[in-house]
Amino acid sequence: MNPDPRRRLLVIGIGAGDPDHLTLAAVKAIGRADVFFVLGKGPEKSSLTDLRRRMLDEHARPPFRVVEAEDPWRDRAQEGRSGYTAAVHDWRSRRADVYERLIRDELEPGRTGALLVWGDPALYDSTLGILAEVEERGTVAFDTEVVPGVSSVSALAARHRITLNQVGRPVRITPARRLREEGLDDADVVVMLDAGESFTEVAGDGVWIYWGAYVGTPDEILVSGRLPDVAERISRLRAEARARHGWIMDTYLLRTFDGPVGGGADGSADGASGRAPSV
Ligand SMILES: C[S@@+](CC[C@H](N)C(=O)[O-])C[C@H]1O[C@@H](n2cnc3c(N)ncnc32)[C@H](O)[C@@H]1O
Repeated sequence: MNPDPRRRLLVIGIGAGDPDHLTLAAVKAIGRADVFFVLGKGPEKSSLTDLRRRMLDEHARPPFRVVEAEDPWRDRAQEGRSGYTAAVHDWRSRRADVYERLIRDELEPGRTGALLVWGDPALYDSTLGILAEVEERGTVAFDTEVVPGVSSVSALAARHRITLNQVGRPVRITPARRLREEGLDDADVVVMLDAGESFTEVAGDGVWIYWGAYVGTPDEILVSGRLPDVAERISRLRAEARARHGWIMDTYLLRTFDGPVGGGADGSADGASGRAPSV
């Protein structure tokens, strides 16, 4: 018998809000875990935590434990790029302290722990970076396995019934702060992490937006259309939804057409209508 069996850690993508987006691999992985680590606080976090809990009720195999920990505070006041990066590094390192403690103290050697990650762990999620930092510290040994999830970007494209790219053209995925700094180029752009309404700062008659908030959840809102035609309505819906829920998660694709853009869009807010000319 191995005298010092390794700890195993599963990083499981759970989709971005629709419980049916949990993959079979994720369901199997949830069934293998002995302990689940949940970090959270605040109104946004608590409804995300609720979805995770529902998934555990359905798919985790008893006996399993859930260990909750407080997510360290993050300084969101740093607006400049270097200030932002420094604040994120500082927050990551405090999160690494929490993970290190959880893995060392709450996961016995030979056991399997799991972290349920929103969407896909490969997209704007700090979990894998933080675990790499914990590993580098060398204070506790563990093996990591990643289960991919359906990202909010895939869910958005599916709900609007669009491809992310136009034929033979690139797609850029960017946080909103970089869209504000860099604007649009010839790529279609997926914008995430928009604390403001960065799409209002993008000009262009030939730009279309495919916007979605709370995609995959019962609160989902979708709007698409020519940006100048629908920007105001999105701003209004966004403000109303944010006031109602206390938080918002939205993602959008900005698509630039070379030629004149005509017809087809009604920019309806109640479904995936308002489609652009075929690409
Ligand atoms: C920290 S990132 C996490 C992304 C996640 N790993 C994924 O694969 O979608 C959070 C951002 O994802 C987007 N997002 C996550 N869930 C969403 C949803 N259900 N509807 C719309 N956007 C969502 C928003 O842009 C939000 O600001």
